[in-house]
Amino acid sequence: MYQTNQAQTVQSEAVQVAHAQVIHATAEISGLRLIWSDDTNQLIPWFWVRDHGTDGISQNLKTLQRQVDTFSLAADTRADIAAMDEAGQNIQIGWSDGQETTISVQRIAEATGKCIDDDQLSGSDSKTYWLKDSMPDQVPSISFDEVMASDEGVLNWLMKIDQYGFCVVTGTEATEEGTERLAKRIAPAQRTIFGTYWPLSTDVKHHDDTAYTTDFLAPHTDASYYYNAAGLQMFNCIEFDGRGGESVVVDGFAIARKIEAERPDLYDTLCNIIVPGHYKEEGVHLAAERPVIRKNRHGELVQVTFNNYDRSPFILPEKQLEAFYEAYAEYSRHSMDQANWLKIPLRPGMALIFDNWRCMHGRMGYSGRRYFFGCYHDKADYESRIRTLQHQLARR
Ligand SMILES: [Fe+2]
Repeated sequence: MYQTNQAQTVQSEAVQVAHAQVIHATAEISGLRLIWSDDTNQLIPWFWVRDHGTDGISQNLKTLQRQVDTFSLAADTRADIAAMDEAGQNIQIGWSDGQETTISVQRIAEATGKCIDDDQLSGSDSKTYWLKDSMPDQVPSISFDEVMASDEGVLNWLMKIDQYGFCVVTGTEATEEGTERLAKRIAPAQRTIFGTYWPLSTDVKHHDDTAYTTDFLAPHTDASYYYNAAGLQMFNCIEFDGRGGESVVVDGFAIARKIEAERPDLYDTLCNIIVPGHYKEEGVHLAAERPVIRKNRHGELVQVTFNNYDRSPFILPEKQLEAFYEAYAEYSRHSMDQANWLKIPLRPGMALIFDNWRCMHGRMGYSGRRYFFGCYHDKADYESRIRTLQHQLARR
């Protein structure tokens, strides 16, 4: 028999989030009945309750990894007893096979949408989508000194990126070392075939990509040919002596939302048709695929992937192909509408960082010399930094 030690039961390490309280918990035949203080009631299936125990037998209390042997549970597993503790934080369950487990109210609240899921960064409400009719009044920016000085500065920086999809850092050191010092405030950079840190200029001859020309680059996301496409991309301007070459940023999530509102049929096509991307050079042949718009299990936007340069050849049955080209062209039309662009002329001492899963970036054609130094960050590393900083600063 399991011995559930109440003292060992922990809430997750995450910051506790306020939510409605459970007024009453009872064991019914098909599940755990909860009456909440917001006048709602839920019936949580027993199998799920058993699979999600928060006691020290059901999970490792240090690593929070599941220890329940999900696959040995009987499909008709059920409980006879549900008893809430005095603080209203945990419910002890007495199973019909004689075992006992505990489940925290917070775990149920998170899983059922009573509060923000611990793994989510923030609700989509905290994001500011911007297009021509809703441009930010000012380009979101932060000083290099603020980012370097404190964890609060780093979190402030990352939350601007989370809100707008990009941010400019001012007063940077216009050196390769300065670029690395800035990037490391987030996490180690993500290594790809381009290296960990990389120069961006016409001097680069060993990669065959239009990025290393002076040509206009239409807005796109990078790494459509990587399954683990870069989450963040950063360019620090080291040198500029020329004309043109402004960086262009476009809010891909805002475009997705606009298409969803105006043409839900095209939005569905962009969510459902899987588009392949590839990259080839001597000794390298990368290929990956995903839809233009990817959503999470809550139906929120997670990632846009739009790179017509790197799209691989693929064909579909005629009707689907027509639908794809129409939807893809609609996405392109918004992304090529200059009224939707923010043009940022980067000069030495300025760095641009953007969420490559949300914003597209491009570049105006230029003449003269332009030397950027940059890197990518993995999406999960970037989000982990936000969660841990939020947790750490909330405890101070
Ligand atoms: Fe790019």
